[in-house]
This record gives sequence, C-alpha cells and structure tokens, in this order.
Amino acid sequence: MCGIVGYVGPSLDSRPMDVAVGGLRRLQYRGYDSAGVALATPAGLHVVKRAGKLEILEAALFEASPPPATAALGHTRWATHGAPTDANAHPHIGGQGRCAIVHNGIIENHAVLRQELADQGVVFASDTDTEVAAHLLAAALEQTGDLTAAMLRTVARLEGAFTLLAVADDVPSTVVGARRSSPLVVGLGDGENFLGSDVAAFIEHTRQALELGEDQVVTMTPQSVKVVDFAGQEVHPRPFTVDWDANAAVKGGFPTFMNKEIHDQPDAIAKTLLGRVDQAGRLQLDELRIDEAVLRRVDKIVVVACGTAAYAGHVAKYAIEHWCRIPTEVELAHEFRYRDPVVDEKTLVVAISQSGETMDTIMAVRHARDQGAKVIAVVNTMGSTIPREADAALYTHAGPEIAVASTKAFLAQITATYLLGLYLAQLRGTLFADEVRAVLAELEAIPDKVGDVIAGEDRIRHLARSMADIGSVLFLGRHVGYPVALEGALKLKELAYIHAEGFAAGELKHGPIALIEPGRVVFVVVPSPRGRDQLHAKVLSNISEINARGARTVVIAEEGDVEVAGVAGEVVYVPQTPTLLAPLVTTPPLQIFACELATAKGLDVDQPRNLAKSVTVE
Ligand code: M6R
Repeated sequence: MCGIVGYVGPSLDSRPMDVAVGGLRRLQYRGYDSAGVALATPAGLHVVKRAGKLEILEAALFEASPPPATAALGHTRWATHGAPTDANAHPHIGGQGRCAIVHNGIIENHAVLRQELADQGVVFASDTDTEVAAHLLAAALEQTGDLTAAMLRTVARLEGAFTLLAVADDVPSTVVGARRSSPLVVGLGDGENFLGSDVAAFIEHTRQALELGEDQVVTMTPQSVKVVDFAGQEVHPRPFTVDWDANAAVKGGFPTFMNKEIHDQPDAIAKTLLGRVDQAGRLQLDELRIDEAVLRRVDKIVVVACGTAAYAGHVAKYAIEHWCRIPTEVELAHEFRYRDPVVDEKTLVVAISQSGETMDTIMAVRHARDQGAKVIAVVNTMGSTIPREADAALYTHAGPEIAVASTKAFLAQITATYLLGLYLAQLRGTLFADEVRAVLAELEAIPDKVGDVIAGEDRIRHLARSMADIGSVLFLGRHVGYPVALEGALKLKELAYIHAEGFAAGELKHGPIALIEPGRVVFVVVPSPRGRDQLHAKVLSNISEINARGARTVVIAEEGDVEVAGVAGEVVYVPQTPTLLAPLVTTPPLQIFACELATAKGLDVDQPRNLAKSVTVE
C-alpha cells in the first residue's frame, strides 16, 4: 500500500532528493500518513522522515537543507504495523547508520525476528515490522560486505509480501531492491536509473522500464541494472515502454486530481477504444493472446475484482451475457478464492484492476490459473503484477489515476469489458458483424456524451453544496443502473464520509423502504424508457413510493424522459444512450456530486482518510 521510490545518478547534487520527492508526490495515492527520504552521500547516509502528509516532509527538507547526494530512497506510508509517527515512518536504519531501507508490504514473521534480534542486543527505534529487515540487512552486510549479497540473505529470512529498497554508506552510488508479492518496476534512464512502486514514480524522467518478476533482486548503479532471482541467478526481465503521458499525472489547472480525472473521462474512454477495429471493420483485440479455439470453448465467465473495479464487472455481466450468451458471474476477488469455486479449463476468468496490484485480485488470479482456467486481465497500469501473471491482458488507457477514489479508471474498465464482450460475441457468432459494428458506433459516440454530462456539472455541484449536511443517502438502480447505484454510494462513502447504501431498486420493498423517511435523500438511476418498458415503469413506481414517504428524490434520467419529471424531486438529464452502455453516462453525475459534497465539507477528495489506492496486502 505504501509508495516507494529509488534513484541513483551520475553526480553529487540535489537531483536524487528532487527525484525522490517528485516520485513520492506522484505516489502519494498509495499511502499518505507519513513520508521520508534517505540520501546516500560519500560522507554517509542522511535520513529525514516525518509523520503526516508529504508537505510536512517537504517543509522539513527545506529547513534542514540536506547535503548533495548520489542516490536516494523515498517512501510514503500507509500504516500497518505501528501508528503513523516520525519514528515509524520509513526509511529505517540498520547498523547505526550503515544502511537504510524502505518497505512496502507486511513481514509476517516480524515478531519472531524481532525477538531474535533483541536477544542479540539490537535496540529497536520503531514499532514497525520493517525495522527487523533493516537490522537483518545490516548484520548481513557485516558478514558479506556486499549490498546485493546482504539483500539476498535478508529476503531469505522474511515471510510475507514485501518490496524492499536499500542503500548502504560504503556504496553511495548503488541502490538495491527486492520484491516478493509486492510491486516494483525499474525505470531506465540515461546515466541514471529509477525504481518505483509503479511507473508513475518516474514517468517524468523516463518511459523505458523493466518489469521485475516475483522473487527478484535488482542492483542499480548510474550505468547498470542487474537482476537476479532469490537464488542469485541472473535473470533478464522484459523491457517495456510506458505509454502514459507524464502531464496526465499533474493537476493541469484543476483544484484536485479528482476533478481533473472526472474531466479526463471522455479521453479515457476514447483512448481505450482506440485502434481496436481492423480495416475490414472487425474488432481486433491484439493483446488477447489466448487461442481462439479456447475462447470458443468457454462455458462460463467469472469476473473477479474489488471495490469499484467489481462494479465495472457487474456492468460487464449484463453486457456479456446479453451479447455472448455465456453465463457470467461477478465475484469479489477475496471471496472467490476462499469459497472453493467451481472453475476449470472451460472457465474464463476476467480480473479487473486499475492498479494491477490489488493483492486480493492477484490471489484470485493465481487460484483460477491453478484450477486450469484462462485469465484475462483488464488493467490500467503497465508493468504491474496482474497482467504479468494472467494469460492475456486488455489494457484500459485511462492514464495515471492519482486520486485515491477511482473515476476515469471505472469508465475505462467498463469500456474495455464491452470490447471484450463484443469480441467474444464476434468470435462465437452470437452477434452478427453489423450488430457488433452498430454497438461500436454507439461506443464511439460516448466520449462526446460524457463530455456533455460533465459540461452540466454546475447544476450537480450546486445540488451537492445544498446538501452538505445530509446524514445518509440511498442510491437505487435497476439492471445496469444497479452497479451504478453501488458505485454512487461507494463514492459518497469514500469521499464525503457519509453513510450511503446502494440497492437494486426492486429490493426496495424487501427491506430498505424502512429507511425511507421525510428528508432522506434518495438517488435513483432511471433506465431508458426506450429500453425495456417494464424496467422504466417499475422504477417510476419506486420513485412514487419514495415520494409518498416524504423523502427527497434526485434522479438520473435520459433526455426526453418527460414522464420522470412528473414524479421526481430533481432530475439530472443525461444524453440518450443504448441501455447496456448507459452506465458510462449515468455514473459521472454521481462522481461529481460526491466530489463536490466532500469539498463543501472541507475534506481532501484526493486522499480520503484511511484509504490507499493500491491495496497490496490481503
Ligand atoms: O486497483 P484496483 O482497481 O484493483 O482497486 C480495487 C479497489 O481497491 C478500488 O476500486 C477501490 O474500491 C477504490 N477506492 C474505489 O474508488
């Protein structure tokens, strides 16, 4: 969950610190309760770390004016072991300043190791699991005199998931990193090299990267990058070029990343659709390197994901079942793995993840592959674990998503799963070619429609500000509107810390109606009247039932739906869109509402309390 940066450069100057702090700025979404840097200089290591947000560390660095350095480590923390204090912040020191390390993950056997080290006379300065690794590394350095060899000895003692980066006082132009079940990518510069929890850490400086595999150790100097496995054998990781635009990771004039990313959505959808159709008008998904015969044999699809990504999976289920006639289940990744699911070689598992590093989803992917299923990853972050471990990857091209709460990645995930559904329908012949083309044409029109919805944001923001003191909000939807309701509720919980629940509208009378009382705010996602007649009529009845009990309804409905205006309190109209694609236009108003209400409450919408963007522990 923490963010990690490493840098080594050719000269002794302030660049290592600048790169580390700049990288942390881009990785803050991974954790933000404390931060620190270690600078490697010919005169020794220099560590500065502070509890609180990165600005506090930046102020401390400004005041202390640290010495010029040749290498640096940076860390932004999401606390697991030990409260967010200066002492528990990373880097941690071993051997009285001989080495410094930063860590992401959890060292599961830390208690045993701590006792063992304490028995040897080691005095601990923090409550973290990480510090045991710092002391083990220092001891191994004493024995081997070599930072890489010491790292190999250290990781051999650790159980759990970890990324570790280390510097030592006698090799100020070397950074060593290790990874097991926790992310780490290498950035290849010109006479300088980088490490990061993900590519956002260094895209400002280089787009050339290396994908590190499980259980590997990397040793970096300004001129070289060498990778070995935990047994010390040299390996050659796959190089790749990052296609993200570095400018996408800055606010670009918006007050927050969340506001910017909401506005990025038309572009995220357009880029995810780009280049998918060949000259004959057939949908091509070049990254889907799974034998067509295998895809034709698939008799069940299981989507695994967590949080917002799982809601994208819910939307996918409606579309895939309708277009492909393949039974499709959606399962929270952490539940999937532990319930002994029926999965075999004819099962296609679709793992959806923005970060590609969600541990619950990684474990579900591993479990599915162990059972013989093929796995397609729908992922936004190149170089991450899930696409590397899956049989094929379908990338969303949303660009870096920095705000912790997901917005543009959600719409890009939905778009990518539509492409997957259409591709399978084309391959298996469940849709005619002209039907596939017709849906693709509708999809091509979506970015403009989403742009229109966002252009109408003032009205939604006004509404949100007028409700800044509400206590609890319900969200209702039917069919594809149901996962949109779930996502609307999640956004409000995450951003505004308001109790919110999403329900299938049909469920209202089975219990949730007891929550309806005068003054309660209820959002309703109304299906198109041009879709299934019954759906529209039934949701309108739900609205009347809510009105009758004195609650206040805010409905998201399609332009031209005059009937809804007669029953709803407030109507936010969105452009007419085919039923299955409607989540792409009905979601943004709910994102904007949550974002503005949180802002009105004075909350930090980019870094909501207690959350981390990338949940890399189970
Ligand atoms: O990186 P992932 O898409 O795998 O993350 C999954 C969830 O942790 C994520 O969607 C989470 O629910 C966000 N906070 C939603 O805004």
